[in-house]
Amino acid sequence: MKTIVVTGGNRGIGKEIAKQLSSKGHQVILTARDKQKGLEAQKEFAEQGLEVSFEQLDVSSYDSIDKFVSSISSQYEKIDVLINNAGLFIDGNKNTYNIDLDSLEQTMRTNVYGPIALTKGLIRLLEKSSDPRIINISSGMGAIDDIAGGYPSYRISKTALNSFTINLSKELTNFKINAVCPGWVRTDMGGSSASRPVEKGAETPVWLALDNSVTTGKFWRDKQVIPW
Ligand SMILES: NC(=O)c1ccc[n+]([C@@H]2O[C@H](COP(=O)([O-])OP(=O)(O)OC[C@H]3O[C@@H](n4cnc5c(N)ncnc54)[C@H](OP(=O)(O)O)[C@@H]3O)[C@@H](O)[C@H]2O)c1
Repeated sequence: MKTIVVTGGNRGIGKEIAKQLSSKGHQVILTARDKQKGLEAQKEFAEQGLEVSFEQLDVSSYDSIDKFVSSISSQYEKIDVLINNAGLFIDGNKNTYNIDLDSLEQTMRTNVYGPIALTKGLIRLLEKSSDPRIINISSGMGAIDDIAGGYPSYRISKTALNSFTINLSKELTNFKINAVCPGWVRTDMGGSSASRPVEKGAETPVWLALDNSVTTGKFWRDKQVIPW
């Protein structure tokens, strides 16, 4: 049984990742920035016979990350997997030259600085695992060769998250550290026209968390390596 932290676990892909991992018998620490929403998700899981722990965590706040790390450190000996899932997509199809700087800042805090700070905070607990893994939920919209203009804050943030993933994987060579694009998924972020259900969006992140054949330092979609 692995102990697994999932950020942004109260809805969308994060919630489905938490559900699938818990269904497979792992100890999931579901986190959400809104306590009420997190507790509702926990209750919903309990009604399905799934027991998950809940901790409040706003990944855009270093203070919240510090509190979370203290709380986790006092309760758990080790963490096996960190899944940086929480994300923002708020700048719409603006042009890069007309980027909204507030949106950029908020997006970078949530999609990049949050995962970096949280990873830094949890490293000591992850190092205690015999098979430590970090999974960054990224997007093909941040893949360098696919960048097509528009959505500047989101694209820039996911490219940066990918860079963080590669850099870290070169340093912590006993870890499995990967980025993953879930595809276009029907969530509040992906919208109702998206091609994939949440179950499919969660499939590769869950595989990256658990499968023995997983390598490190790669960008994945549908269990296949894709270009950065
Ligand atoms: N859906 C897609 O098509 C798609 C495609 C490629 C990549 N992705 C990536 O997949 C991940 C999950 O996306 P999704 O589609 O599930 O999005 P979603 O339905 O919009 O859910 C986003 C989750 O992130 C949480 N969140 C946002 N800011 C946060 C913060 N500061 N602290 C903690 N949690 C925060 C939200 O919490 P609240 O409920 O409190 O807002 C929510 O739980 C994201 O990283 C996204 O970029 C999604």
